[in-house]
Amino acid sequence: MQVIDNQYSIQGVNPVELCQQYGSPLYVYDGGTIRRKVQELQDAFAGVKMKIKYACKANTNLAVLRLMRELGVELDVVSPGEFAMGRRVGYEGHQITFTPSGVPYHEVSTAVEEGATVNVDSLPLLEWFGQTYGNSKPCLIRLKPNVAAGGNIKIMTAHTDSKFGISVALLDKVIATVQKYNIKVVGLHQHTGSDIKEAEPFLRAASVIFEAAMQFPDLEVIDMGGGFKVSYHPEDTLTDMKTLGQQITAGFKDFCARYGRELELWFEPGKFLVSESGHLLVTATVLKDDPARFFVHVDSGLNHLIRPMMYGSYHHILNVSNPEGEKRTYTVVGYICETDTFATDRELPEVRPGDVLAFLNAGAYGFTMSSNYNARVRPAEVLIDNGQARLVRRRETLDDLLRTQEELL
Ligand code: LLP
Repeated sequence: MQVIDNQYSIQGVNPVELCQQYGSPLYVYDGGTIRRKVQELQDAFAGVKMKIKYACKANTNLAVLRLMRELGVELDVVSPGEFAMGRRVGYEGHQITFTPSGVPYHEVSTAVEEGATVNVDSLPLLEWFGQTYGNSKPCLIRLKPNVAAGGNIKIMTAHTDSKFGISVALLDKVIATVQKYNIKVVGLHQHTGSDIKEAEPFLRAASVIFEAAMQFPDLEVIDMGGGFKVSYHPEDTLTDMKTLGQQITAGFKDFCARYGRELELWFEPGKFLVSESGHLLVTATVLKDDPARFFVHVDSGLNHLIRPMMYGSYHHILNVSNPEGEKRTYTVVGYICETDTFATDRELPEVRPGDVLAFLNAGAYGFTMSSNYNARVRPAEVLIDNGQARLVRRRETLDDLLRTQEELL
């Protein structure tokens, strides 16, 4: 979002006017930012055979998925629902990786039969996979390298206590099961967690995976997951993708030389590709000058953007209606009957009732983690691409909320 002539603009489109047209609150995505982030990642790994498998749990709007497909990005899914959405926008089964977490096996068999590659995440699933498919279907194995990185325990996934993947300490059992059924293991996978800025944890996790890989002779892929940090705070340093690309590329090439073959390197970023593209536009409703805090209530809450309350995440806020207003300190809160603080003592240009505020970095884990709590409908979504704004999801209605209830009169 840029300021042009004292007005905020996304690709020349005024966000306040978008709210007038489509209502508030409103999720708005900038397709140009998604294009730029995909290019940045591709450039950083131009030296190896790299594939991007977008972790679509971050944002499953079909227009975003279509854009990813147009850009040559493939998909990582975690559920039959995400799988179906990928298929809906034209992905072939073989372009989709299914990375389950302890799901019922029938979900795995459906994905496998549609051509997806599964990241096997437990020994029981590996046993079942061997019994069911023997050597007839390829799979990846998700290992837990026991690396803690990123700083927020809620979004770490590869530390010793994490539920995800098969601990490398159990590698002997993995290999015994693979040999017992002659399972076709074409790749090893790991995902360290989210918000990882430095190359060091990736390299540490990679070295564990590379060592394990030497025991699997038929690999085609090493999948290093996602987790690249984005800049939520204006002073945050984000992942320097160019440097990270150089460092990981060097380590990977070295590994391929030792392994004896050039493998593909896969990544599954969510946030890196879509976080920055998204804005949640909300409207200030009531200003409450309380002795303790100056509260601004907005027409949204943790039901639409849960990250601040769930992880203590910082989301930068702009007053897009009054960019030049005099700075004051506000605590921005929602309308949910539960504590739903978006920001405490945040300096913003003067906020007046009716002003449109924008929460930045709302493109990842915003809408997809939203709910109908307090019987509130979810917002509409707009995608701006090539200078054109289009409604890509209508706002829910009361009928949507009632649709699944059985009225026993
Ligand atoms: N691959 C796997 C196996 C994952 O579990 C995840 C995220 C990703 C890739 C993508 O991670 P990313 O690049 O988006 O960091 N809801 C949290 C993040 C938890 C993500 C869970 N898995 C948040 O809003 O920060």
